[in-house]
Amino acid sequence: MAKTTSFFCRECGFESAKWMGQCPACREWNTFVEEPAGGNTRTQHTAGSRSGRTAGPVPSRLSEISASKEERISTGYRELDRVLGGGIVPGSLILVGGDPGIGKSTLLLQVCRSLSAQGKKILYISGEESLRQIRMRADRIGQMGGELLFLCETCLDVIRDVILEQKPETVIIDSIQTMYREEVSSAPGSVSQVRECTNLLMQIAKGEGITVFIVGHVTKEGVVAGPRVLEHMVDTVLYFEGDRHASYRILRGVKNRFGSTNEIGVFEMRQQGLAEVENPSEFMLNGRPRDASGAVVACAMEGTRPILLEVQALVTQSNLGIPRRTAAGTDYNRVNLLMAVLEKRCRLEMGRYDAYVNIAGGMKMNEPALDLSIVLALVSSLKDLPVDEKTVVFGEVGLSGEVRAVSMAEQRVSEAMKLGFECCVLPKICLDKLEKKVYEGKIRLIGVQNVRDAIGIL
Ligand code: TYD
Ligand code: MG
Repeated sequence: MAKTTSFFCRECGFESAKWMGQCPACREWNTFVEEPAGGNTRTQHTAGSRSGRTAGPVPSRLSEISASKEERISTGYRELDRVLGGGIVPGSLILVGGDPGIGKSTLLLQVCRSLSAQGKKILYISGEESLRQIRMRADRIGQMGGELLFLCETCLDVIRDVILEQKPETVIIDSIQTMYREEVSSAPGSVSQVRECTNLLMQIAKGEGITVFIVGHVTKEGVVAGPRVLEHMVDTVLYFEGDRHASYRILRGVKNRFGSTNEIGVFEMRQQGLAEVENPSEFMLNGRPRDASGAVVACAMEGTRPILLEVQALVTQSNLGIPRRTAAGTDYNRVNLLMAVLEKRCRLEMGRYDAYVNIAGGMKMNEPALDLSIVLALVSSLKDLPVDEKTVVFGEVGLSGEVRAVSMAEQRVSEAMKLGFECCVLPKICLDKLEKKVYEGKIRLIGVQNVRDAIGIL
């Protein structure tokens, strides 16, 4: 008797005849789920019909392929356009992933609003919310006009007919986990449903030249098929992330066939929807204390974008045998390592103190360039000496206490200069490579070779 079910990896979609603890393709544990088989029958079928053909396709020479620049449509949001590589490429398939409640629907509704204001016809399909709920959200965001159509539907075969009839320029599918195809027997959100639905959407996007935005939820437990299954099918993958309790949100490009993936867009969740944050550094440094010890401004890179943020440390005498250490927003082990460096190389008795390190503003940053600022924040708090508030610090710290070079020093210094900082402490090797004339009279640059030099400047 033919076997009717197969096992699929929830993460990467790998298919197997038997259950396995670890996926051999993506090496994730406990990701196999049982679903009706059938993924392979379709490919066999197409293979069969192909072999009947007489004239095969002819490959083209690279020089003969027209390289005209593709047209781009602005979303009306510069932060989003940048992540997309300069705007939407018509006919592309864009996946917007993120935790539930992070603001994916809000972002896409705002994009709809801005596109419809440009006179584009848009179809927003929601499988999660009723029309009334969408209306309520739209009212918060503001006036909407133009040809903006809404549909509550989860059967993708019905949706396809509506799309072919209405011929919109942009379609939003919110979310892929709620969609299903009649011919696939497993539940919505399962690996095979998600894959088949995306397949159909891809045919629609490429065949009709319609831009399709797909919303995909990522869950920790992964009960629902993670959007990773569809990452390789779509043109662009964007992840919307951020702390739900903090108001800022970061849109990050993970894959982009039409641009670089080094870019991020920063948004802030407000009462009236998402607002662009054009200058994230200013946003992160808002409400900074003056003349407080233990606070140092650091410069980290998010892709190609420098962001200034405040690193805070609180070092207090410990009452416990084993001192307490915490790190919020940065790597705990890295903080421990840096404290060990201070203890050994600078003869500071960190072992007798509790230490709490925090990146203000709820930002998460693990860049090694933050090392020097963490070290200075710790020492500043330990000695109760405030660091000059107009100083920016960056540099990686090695185990022997040396300050090592970091990438993109020029951009970091320029960002500090742009925001009116007067002094910058950076690795000596980076300083030697910088064109000093540009900065003369605008910002004082101090190169340091090891941690002791840096503490001396304090
Ligand atoms: P939503 O877009 O529904 O998230 P997702 O589609 O990713 O699940 O956004 C949900 C959150 O955003 C919700 O907790 C409320 C908040 N929000 C605002 O703070 N202001 C607003 O104007 C809107 C529309 C939502
Ligand atoms: Mg939503």
